[in-house]
Amino acid sequence: MIKIGKKEISSNIIMAPMSGCTDLAFRTMVRKHGAKLCFFEMVDAASLIMKNPKTFQILKTNLKDKPISAQIIGSDPFQILDAAYILIDTVPDIVFLDINSACPVKKILKKKSGAYLMKSSNTLIKIAKTLSYSCKLKLPITVKIRTGYDKNDLPFLIDLVKRLEDNGIDAIFIHGRTCRQMYSGKIDYASIRKVKETVSIPVFGSGNIFSPELARKMIIETGCDGITVARGSLGIPWIFKDIEKYLQTGEFATPKNITEKKRNAMSEHIRYIEKYKGCLPGGKGNIGLVKKVMMWYIKGFPDARSIRNKICRIENYNELIALMERDIC
Ligand SMILES: Cc1cc2nc3c(=O)[nH]c(=O)nc-3n(C[C@H](O)[C@H](O)[C@H](O)COP(=O)(O)O)c2cc1C
Repeated sequence: MIKIGKKEISSNIIMAPMSGCTDLAFRTMVRKHGAKLCFFEMVDAASLIMKNPKTFQILKTNLKDKPISAQIIGSDPFQILDAAYILIDTVPDIVFLDINSACPVKKILKKKSGAYLMKSSNTLIKIAKTLSYSCKLKLPITVKIRTGYDKNDLPFLIDLVKRLEDNGIDAIFIHGRTCRQMYSGKIDYASIRKVKETVSIPVFGSGNIFSPELARKMIIETGCDGITVARGSLGIPWIFKDIEKYLQTGEFATPKNITEKKRNAMSEHIRYIEKYKGCLPGGKGNIGLVKKVMMWYIKGFPDARSIRNKICRIENYNELIALMERDIC
């Protein structure tokens, strides 16, 4: 049990937001296999205000998809506040709202959003303050940061997290890489530890949590209060349960025919995509998403290379079902 602001959450192992991945089908899978708290994919503040239907699709949820948190991305404090009002009107029971100051994607940085806010820290503080002190929002506000923008700068990082805490932020999520590093390179556990030692609000570490041992390493090396699991859950929806078991008992879950388990999980995941997004026989809609999801699951299969080549050539849903029946399941 851990507290973020006034909200108690039942686990300190959280499913990370991943744009283009963590939709309702994905969340249904990981929850079924043991994840206790999930994030929506990030939503863009301007798109929410413009009532872009695609953005509202991101917020599609159901009664079983709880507890859930949301993340907002933008650069203008008052626009983000207005968007946050729309967000809580759309999904009234989100547990907390996170401000994205970590996304390294070029088109996001161009809009002075995401990790750009690490460079423009006065704007980030203004956003934090505007959301935290809004009487109408009444929910914990958190911030996701990186260890730096283009290089490590510990004094800057320490000052930033102090200011975030002083301006009402309830927890910090930190990816242990700089924006320039994107998603590769070593995790800077030492900087996360410094952040944890600086603030008294909860700190969640992120980066390279691909196994229960790496989850433990993050906690031991940084002293963080919790972790978020991102790429490690792609095709391994039970990783949350495995991590929890390992942290509590030091034991690994028994790997009983993992290929078979992954095959079944892949079929199940695809059925959830059909259910929540729709895939028409003979149609191409969402076929790109299904192919991406299949690639996650076949990783490690003895015949992965040949299946991967076949998946790449699929053009419609009928072909996909035929491939599943013939070569995979
Ligand atoms: C495809 C993809 C999409 C992501 N989208 C988001 C996002 O929308 N918001 C966010 O805060 N982080 C996002 N991340 C970053 C992850 O939440 C996480 O911090 C990062 O991948 C490091 O964790 P890992 O090494 O365990 O994957 C994304 C990462 C990936 C790979």
